[in-house]
Amino acid sequence: MSFDKVHQEKHAVLSKAVDEVCEAFTLTSEKLHELTDFFVASMEKGLGEEKEDAEYRGLPMIPTYVTGLPNGTENGMLLAADLGGTNFRVCSVELQGNHKFSLLQMKSKIPEELLEDDSVTSDQLFGYLARRTLAFINKHHPEYLQNKEKLKLGFTFSYPVDQTSLSSGTLIRWTKGFKIKDTLGEDVVQLYQKHLEAQGMPMIRVVALANDTVGTFLSHCYCSENNGSLTSGEIVEPVMGCIFGTGTNGAYMEKIENIKKLPEKVRQELLQAGKTHMCINTEWGSFDNDLKHLPTTRYDIDIDQKFSSNPGFHLFEKRVSGMFLGEILRNVLVDLYRKGVIFRQYPSEEALPHRLRTPFDLSSEVLSHIEIDDSSQLRETELSILQSMRLPTTHEERIEIQKLVRAISRRSAYLAAVPIAAILTKTDALNKRYHGEVEIGCDGSVVEYYPGFRSMIRHALALSPIGPEGERKVHLCIAKDGSGVGAALCALVA
Ligand code: GLC
Repeated sequence: MSFDKVHQEKHAVLSKAVDEVCEAFTLTSEKLHELTDFFVASMEKGLGEEKEDAEYRGLPMIPTYVTGLPNGTENGMLLAADLGGTNFRVCSVELQGNHKFSLLQMKSKIPEELLEDDSVTSDQLFGYLARRTLAFINKHHPEYLQNKEKLKLGFTFSYPVDQTSLSSGTLIRWTKGFKIKDTLGEDVVQLYQKHLEAQGMPMIRVVALANDTVGTFLSHCYCSENNGSLTSGEIVEPVMGCIFGTGTNGAYMEKIENIKKLPEKVRQELLQAGKTHMCINTEWGSFDNDLKHLPTTRYDIDIDQKFSSNPGFHLFEKRVSGMFLGEILRNVLVDLYRKGVIFRQYPSEEALPHRLRTPFDLSSEVLSHIEIDDSSQLRETELSILQSMRLPTTHEERIEIQKLVRAISRRSAYLAAVPIAAILTKTDALNKRYHGEVEIGCDGSVVEYYPGFRSMIRHALALSPIGPEGERKVHLCIAKDGSGVGAALCALVA
């Protein structure tokens, strides 16, 4: 056989194997309907079930004690701190009362050892947070250290907590890589407050605890010029805040009468005080942990069971969020190698580049370069994989890798549309006003930077139960700085 013929046949074999994988990542309109219906049912169930503990497997649907939304007229100077999956941010926020704000911030990358080392304690983590807070105050507001006045701080804590009031909540479980055992069941506000005081900042009071999705939602409500009393003309209602970044999650307003899990006394008090709605942190990363309906490939099972820090939990997140997209691709590539159809120059698995063998070493950012590569011979892809993974590729391999990348990102975006369609359906938001247009405040690296992610969500929304007519009424807006401003807004009302 000629060299060319052998070459073509090898490509055909690889191509066939890749097509099978892509097929397993495809979501049909029927599946989107099935998942959306199940999401609505899971929301209803979650609102009724009281238990918020590490063993609970349903949709958490956590009441946040936020009972109103800002309209853009709020004023004040507040502090905010935000512990996410990758960074810790401290900010001072000045709300100017006209949908505008100014913000000073200090962002620190969370040290690897706090994420990776199994022996890390709560005191080490919260001690670090307090030291970074002090560094921020020293740099931007040294005058506060002499203050006798109390300064309010809103704490965005982007992990599942069982919230018992606006300013207290105990950690149910870590997600996004943290593993610190002695934080479980502890009140994270008290921990942070204790360490702020130990660092000589008793004047800072942590008065509000907010999930990042709640922060994003509130900050979008504040910033949206379409919202509230300051503008005339069409009002487009902000209906939810969501994050598609390292993790994924969403928050929306639910009728208090539907939140059956709230203690009866609390529910009555709120209703008597004239409150009608409360913001719910859905923790949709945990949707369908029992895998009754979620599409599941062997790669999803391996990532969850062998490589993740919380096996059996947050299974929706493991198919959607930025932390996992690269890891899914890595698992697929290693599997194709084992099948003998790709990277054939390596004689054994041990000989593969170290980064291809190391869990979570293939970053989702690499996928975002490959997704839109239209260079000749896919040279951009070649460079990106070579630089990030030290992995040389042939043109044929790159064609196939691009197909895989697009299948993985499309599944992620299609799944991302499910909770959005479900919340719009459950709240009947699209039929409330004359035109029924709604705004969704989104934040996170994937929705902000992954090429085409928002349009893929839109395609899926059109295929979902809300249909093309519903999809046209949805505005997916990027809510920049969502969690900082949102936490400040929470602190303002506390
Ligand atoms: C994870 C956390 C959740 C957070 C989300 C986005 O899913 O459990 O609380 O909102 O990541 O950061």
